[in-house]
Amino acid sequence: MAIECPLFTVEGSSQQWIKTFNRYYPHLSVKDWQDIDHPEAVEYAIVWQPDARLFSTFPNLKALFNMGAGVDGILDHPQLPDDVHIVRLENAGMAEQMNEYFAYHVMHFHRHMDHYQQQQSQAKWRVLAGTQAKDFRVGILGLGQLGSSVASCLRSFGYQMSGWSRSCKSIEGVKCYTGADQLGSFLQHVDALCCLLPLTDNTRDILNKDNMLLLPKGAIVINAARGGHLVEQDLVDLLNQGHLRGAVLDTVRTEPLPLDNPLWHQKGLILTPHCAAQSWIEPSVKQIGRSIDAMLAGQKPAGLVERERGY
Ligand code: NAP
Ligand code: GLV
Repeated sequence: MAIECPLFTVEGSSQQWIKTFNRYYPHLSVKDWQDIDHPEAVEYAIVWQPDARLFSTFPNLKALFNMGAGVDGILDHPQLPDDVHIVRLENAGMAEQMNEYFAYHVMHFHRHMDHYQQQQSQAKWRVLAGTQAKDFRVGILGLGQLGSSVASCLRSFGYQMSGWSRSCKSIEGVKCYTGADQLGSFLQHVDALCCLLPLTDNTRDILNKDNMLLLPKGAIVINAARGGHLVEQDLVDLLNQGHLRGAVLDTVRTEPLPLDNPLWHQKGLILTPHCAAQSWIEPSVKQIGRSIDAMLAGQKPAGLVERERGY
């Protein structure tokens, strides 16, 4: 029997998603949330950053299927009922994109592209001393679906890799640190800090002055997780004081970044518009469809969020 599944995004542009769902999973009858015939019968919704209208329109939700990896935008919602399950995307093509994003930016700094760009602007032709990849230390905050992939990818280029997570990990060629107690020793040995943590009560503001001062002088910070991980003024101060050599931000606290925000013009900072890893439609639809089918069959779907831990 076909069930109705609303697809809810505030941004629109969801027609291609709906078409793809109906090609692979016609029994789910995925529709734009405003076209649902029987809202009171809806138990499962497919969402990205839903607002209050989702919860007022569909009072009997049992599970939300997130069209991305990070679920902070759902968990922070004041109207989210306590008993609703949340299922997120796991990789679905994002790990490969994160590998590219971090490899590109780590190499930008490791290979002195920031300095060479500056030299070019001064018509200066001078070779700078290089560092072997094995002596360039890259640390990943968060060793989950995306962070562990980036760690292994950068390891394949020969970088000296380390990572930090909540539970203990074993990843070939990556020195793993665990828990709040080991954060300090992790940070002290990192030249390029890459953030791929989920945004939770325990990770909010983790990129603050105290922690970033533990990085060696001249380190760089790359955040492609959430803007809420970074205290932006602290980053600006440490860049201006020369403690940090550079930074890359794919996410900021207010998105889109307001026109009058000084980050647009901050020296040493590269900004990208939350594009490090997108949810490709085909693999995302297939994963969400499989998860809905698993729940319909009374099974636990992959990517089920543990609400009490926040990710
Ligand atoms: P994930 O699989 O849930 O991995 C999260 C990692 O963070 C895990 O290793 C986890 O430790 C660790 N962690 C969580 N809380 C921690 C804490 N308090 N202390 C230490 N480690 C902690 O998540 P993912 O799929 O890799 O995604 C990570 C984040 O990337 C998402 O939440 C999202 O915000 C962001 N993202 C951004 C973009 C973009 O385009 N910019 C795209 C996709 C995702 P354990 O392994 O021990 O659980
Ligand atoms: C994007 O930011 C995601 O969380 O998938």
